[in-house]
Amino acid sequence: MAIGKFITLEGGEGAGKSTQAELLAVRLRAIGLDVVMTREPGGSPFGERLRAVLLDATMPEHSALSEALLFYAARADHLETTIRPALAKGRWVICDRFADSTRAYQGTAGALDFKTIDTLDALVVAQTQPDLTLMIDLDPEVGMQRANARRCLQTNDAEETASHPDRFEGRAAAFHEALRRGFLDIAANNPERCAVIDGNNDAETISDNVWSIVKDRLQPGERK
Ligand code: TYD
Repeated sequence: MAIGKFITLEGGEGAGKSTQAELLAVRLRAIGLDVVMTREPGGSPFGERLRAVLLDATMPEHSALSEALLFYAARADHLETTIRPALAKGRWVICDRFADSTRAYQGTAGALDFKTIDTLDALVVAQTQPDLTLMIDLDPEVGMQRANARRCLQTNDAEETASHPDRFEGRAAAFHEALRRGFLDIAANNPERCAVIDGNNDAETISDNVWSIVKDRLQPGERK
């Protein structure tokens, strides 16, 4: 069986990645493809346990390196138990955030040097680079407003913690500006893999733009 395709979605807070991941999955399934939706941090039982640690706003202070190692520990397990087996079966994998998030959050906007990220990436991700990365770009101010609005809605029906910003959402505006720059730099440096999508449009327009890029770059109808 042909190997599946690996698509990642990236962007700052409130960029609408999760909605777009779902809309893309619907379109791919409609043409008969077998789609796996997953996310980072998380995406496997062990990865999800590490997610709870990584996003816990009450976590004691720790170094940028120890945090990066945890993200990559979760990523290694996610690749081994979810992503690679799915691709090997010819399934299409849509992942909400992946290694570019580490480069933008812990690298450009954080304190981790790119050499360390490159080393971890070579060890953990190795050949399993995404076939396509959709970078949803949005003014961070608009993104944070959306993320806040989403949290307000969640308080009504989810557990209480849903109303609090996680460790990354709660940061200052300069952090979110740096994040945006980080993602745009990655896209500029990897034009064959990445496509930047304007996140200012409504979800339907963004989804149409995503679909035309996916069709153009990966030819999903041809069952490659
Ligand atoms: P999540 O609730 O999934 O946020 P979003 O809806 O914005 O995707 O939480 C994931 C958080 O983890 C998000 O703030 C980004 C951060 N993160 C990193 O800092 N580094 C990483 O490598 C990954 C995968 C995520």
